[in-house]
Amino acid sequence: MSVPLAPLELLERSRRGETVDAESVAYFVRNWFGGGATDAQMAAWCMLACLQGLDSAAVAALTAELIATGDRLDLGSLGPTGDTHSTGGVGDTTTLVAVPIAAALGVRVAKMSGRGLAHTGGTVDKLEAIPGYQADLHLADFVRQIKDVGCAVISQTDRLTPGDKRLYALRDQTATVQSAGLIAASIMSKKLAGGASAIALDVKCGDGAFFATPEEARHAAELMVSLAEPWGRTVRWMATDMSQPLGGAVGNALEVRQAAAVLRGAGPPDLRELGLRVAAELAEASGVAPVGDGLARAEATIIDGTALAMAERWVEAQGGEPAVWTDDDALPSAPIRLDVVAPHDGWLAALPARALGEAARRLGAGRLHPSQNVDPAVGLELRAKVGHAVTAGEPVIVVHARDMALAEACVANLATRIVVSQTQVAAPPLIVASDA
Ligand code: URA
Repeated sequence: MSVPLAPLELLERSRRGETVDAESVAYFVRNWFGGGATDAQMAAWCMLACLQGLDSAAVAALTAELIATGDRLDLGSLGPTGDTHSTGGVGDTTTLVAVPIAAALGVRVAKMSGRGLAHTGGTVDKLEAIPGYQADLHLADFVRQIKDVGCAVISQTDRLTPGDKRLYALRDQTATVQSAGLIAASIMSKKLAGGASAIALDVKCGDGAFFATPEEARHAAELMVSLAEPWGRTVRWMATDMSQPLGGAVGNALEVRQAAAVLRGAGPPDLRELGLRVAAELAEASGVAPVGDGLARAEATIIDGTALAMAERWVEAQGGEPAVWTDDDALPSAPIRLDVVAPHDGWLAALPARALGEAARRLGAGRLHPSQNVDPAVGLELRAKVGHAVTAGEPVIVVHARDMALAEACVANLATRIVVSQTQVAAPPLIVASDA
């Protein structure tokens, strides 16, 4: 029987680029969670994973060990169950649209989300912009709510993938998010422990995503599919554009308003399209809609108001103010508004997602320090998207801020980032690859 490497030996070998066996990786992760390896050692390993990559055996070992840090839910008695996850983007509030639509269609949606990571927003931070919303439910209440209401969205807890909760925060503060293996293990540990049988993955690619190209996104998607295979789950995936933010806002309450507008039958077309597609994938993969029929059925839940009614029941069940879906004033708003304007007439050619995500984080919509409280009200409102015609002096971005100096610095920064072309520019396609 082989003896697993000690944490220090594993780090030394990994640094030299030597292969490390999966058993040693599992032993390392188990030790770290149990206190036998330090956070410094885990951070060093994560940095090596970002710089050198992880082989698929190491990713599988990490995923299994993260799942083993907590309980696993068995949702078998609830009927068709679904879960969805994005690999991380800017303005990506798809979950707030897709979850109530899928639940209105009859999928029992059991979703565990995370907070903002690096320059990307996190679903839990967005939901916590809703006054009263409790993301930290006891597991029994989580399951009861899925059964009684149809859906629930929580954060990682001390009972369900607590290892991912700790590792997620460690990666965020050490700039070690950007590794396909670490992202795949983080997401799939939550999805597999959460127990849903159908999983829809939105793998983002482009400037503001953790994957640069559709090919990198496909590779990450296939890795996640392979992690789910031994568990008998059905995984569907799409790779979607993140060269510019999704929708019309970056920032927590601002994004909840966008999701609410979509559920009321309006809102940004790209957010609406993606929310509907994710819900349709869940409906088809879980068997509540025949293949090919999911999208039409998903659209019908917006038209007949059942998705909106589901959103109200869901948020109310988790202690939140249900009026956020119909009354924009029920959400916090920031006192300062400053415009970033188009420098001349033309077509918006670049609205770089990473720069906008970083700018929103600097305003306080995300964290630059682990103990920082997120400000739910601040962020960016996007008045135009790539391909839109703009005229000189027209606001392209409205900065929502609490502090004038930060607001002015943000405007000065973003004025140098947006690009207006004098020749017509096409909007980028939203869905760039899929398993279909
Ligand atoms: N979402 C997660 O849950 N984990 C990651 O690492 C990235 C996105």
